[in-house]
Amino acid sequence: MLELSNVTRRFGKNTAVDSVTVSIPQGQMVGIIGRSGAGKSTLLRMINRLIDPSEGDIRFGEKQVSALKGRDLRDWQRDCAMIFQQFNLVPRLNVLTNVLLGRLNHRNTILNLLNIFTPEERAQALLALERLGIEQTALQRAGTLSGGQQQRVAIARALMQNPKVILADEPIASLDPLNAQIVMDSLKDINERDGITVVTNLHTLDTARTYCERVIGMYQGRVVFDGPSSALTREAVRQIYGSQDNAEISEAITSTSIKQSSTQPSAPVTPMPAQQIASPA
Ligand SMILES: Nc1ncnc2c1ncn2[C@@H]1O[C@H](COP(=O)(O)OP(=O)(O)OP(=O)(O)O)[C@@H](O)[C@H]1O
Ligand SMILES: [Mg+2]
Repeated sequence: MLELSNVTRRFGKNTAVDSVTVSIPQGQMVGIIGRSGAGKSTLLRMINRLIDPSEGDIRFGEKQVSALKGRDLRDWQRDCAMIFQQFNLVPRLNVLTNVLLGRLNHRNTILNLLNIFTPEERAQALLALERLGIEQTALQRAGTLSGGQQQRVAIARALMQNPKVILADEPIASLDPLNAQIVMDSLKDINERDGITVVTNLHTLDTARTYCERVIGMYQGRVVFDGPSSALTREAVRQIYGSQDNAEISEAITSTSIKQSSTQPSAPVTPMPAQQIASPA
């Protein structure tokens, strides 16, 4: 269980994240949505401790994440892999080496300095690439891959960390619709088959609806919606994205071009199990 209690982050006078309290059980797939500047990235970065909360408490099971230091903090950052919009690979290294870099926090410094990976680690890296359907790119320089392939390499690298949680910050924002779907399907598969908690920021509402059993909506640093995606009514969406003179919220500003055959209506009456909404045609 990942638990945030009254987590706040201020930058000067600006409160980016304002007293957020949420509990995420192990194995959930959670989408965080909200306008630009709502605090989504800041929230993920605090969970991973790339930045520190100004106030509040973050716990993972027995671990008080917000108080970790040194070795314990590195262990947490290994357990809690991060995926970014811009992939963050080393472009001049080949794909296999990029994936092996996910092992760094598992190993001692000497082995890392000498860049020695064991045959088992190489086999694990190849398996991860195979799982993502890009094993044929293993010896290619990462920088020569398409965006969709690079994001899959980043996911394979995350898997090499044997994480308990994957945090993804707009993982599909730079991708075309087909690659966006492949990447989201991969994250969903990892979530369902490996029981890894996935928390992902998404700039589009319909992706959150399609893939995430639970959606957290943020507005100006605060959580204004937290529930199953089936409970995202028009009114809830208005609160998350902000209403303008009660004008109809345009799905266009919250919409991606991942087209699903099972697009959900705005206000379904009964919640649906995640599996039913999670499998694109
Ligand atoms: N390092 C920083 N220094 C100062 N202000 C920051 C910093 N990081 C974020 N902010 C501010 O905090 C607020 C929340 O930013 P954040 O990046 O978390 O939003 P977001 O919801 O991820 O937006 P987007 O959808 O554009 O990625 C914004 O007002 C932003 O300007
Ligand atoms: Mg962001």
